[in-house]
Amino acid sequence: MEERQTPQDHALDNPLVRVLNGERLATPPIWLMRQAGRYLPEYRATRAQAGSFLDLCYAPDLATEVTLQPIRRYAFDAAIIFSDILVVPQALGRKLWFEEGEGPRLDPLAGPADVAALVPEGIEATLQPVYQAIRQTRGALPAATALIGFCGAPFTLACYMIEGRGSRDFLKVKQWAYGHPDSFRRLTETLVQACIEHLDWQVQAGCNAVQIFDSWAGILPEEQLFRWSVQPMQAIARGLRARHPAIPVIAFPRGVGPAALMYRRLPEFAALSIDTTIGAHWAAQELQPHIAVQGNLDPVMLLTGGAIMVHEVRRILGKLSGGRHIFNLGHGILPQTPPDNVARLVETVRDWTSR
Ligand code: CP3
Repeated sequence: MEERQTPQDHALDNPLVRVLNGERLATPPIWLMRQAGRYLPEYRATRAQAGSFLDLCYAPDLATEVTLQPIRRYAFDAAIIFSDILVVPQALGRKLWFEEGEGPRLDPLAGPADVAALVPEGIEATLQPVYQAIRQTRGALPAATALIGFCGAPFTLACYMIEGRGSRDFLKVKQWAYGHPDSFRRLTETLVQACIEHLDWQVQAGCNAVQIFDSWAGILPEEQLFRWSVQPMQAIARGLRARHPAIPVIAFPRGVGPAALMYRRLPEFAALSIDTTIGAHWAAQELQPHIAVQGNLDPVMLLTGGAIMVHEVRRILGKLSGGRHIFNLGHGILPQTPPDNVARLVETVRDWTSR
């Protein structure tokens, strides 16, 4: 049986949750996207033990272990549950696999009939191992460390579901959205419902905040962005918060540039995660007065390391730590990143105190 949480559980006294709830901290909390991953030798060992990436996602003990690995090393302010955004399409009945060294593959949706066959009710049966890993991880984490749950935004999920794999321009997806908006809307609405369910279960299992990843929002022109990125993400956050009013939601619409303005004043979002195309100075001026900002060190700068990285980290802190700020990267850690560079980054952020 699921354990129901009391609302206070989300209001954990933790630096990340405090910033999400509206406080500015002199030393911003830090966590990194893909902080559990191939750059860590202990991750590679556990993954080898699991057999494959998906086996790892569905083995609660091992998923718990890899979620905790970066916390043991760096004492980040948050852990993010080890899983993938594509487990939702899989739970909706789409075939999913990962090609070694390449990335995800899905059986591509062929048309409206395939969309109609997707049923968001009951996805939790497939996703139980994820919720089990969350319960175990929350139980093992220090009280001061937040646990983040997540989902992919409908547009990004649709990109992989229609294309069947990653792509440079996602032509098929955009053609479907432009040419058959009714059927694309139906797909989007199904994904909104599935994501609300998935996040609800994650919060019930013990997550203290959630992040919605719209990794491919940036391929949409601004005209289309409101319909296919802003509104569906907002609908997910609203649906989740109707069930868990205190749960903070972080939105990550990657690559949208100045259209980030469209996401800044929506009461459903507690923070906006920004990629490296957005300047920290602009974000401090235009976004931070309205919403907490998460970001935005270039993952390649973390890979490079050294004095140049430290200088860049302090530049970002100088621009953003005057407002509500969560330190993070502009996108996930690259597998080639030396773990010592991550230690140096954390030390640099923790040494920082703004007035
Ligand atoms: O951030 C974390 O540490 C939590 C776990 C997490 C993963 N994927 C683990 C993972 C999260 C939050 C994701 C999100 C995700 N997955 C996104 C959105 C964020 C982004 O990166 O834009 C997307 C688009 C996916 C789909 C996906 N999963 C791709 C395109 C790939 C292949 C690319 C790659 O990095 O290999 C994955 C695989 C994946 N997901 C790995 C990890 C650690 C690498 C798997 C491995 O070989 O061990």
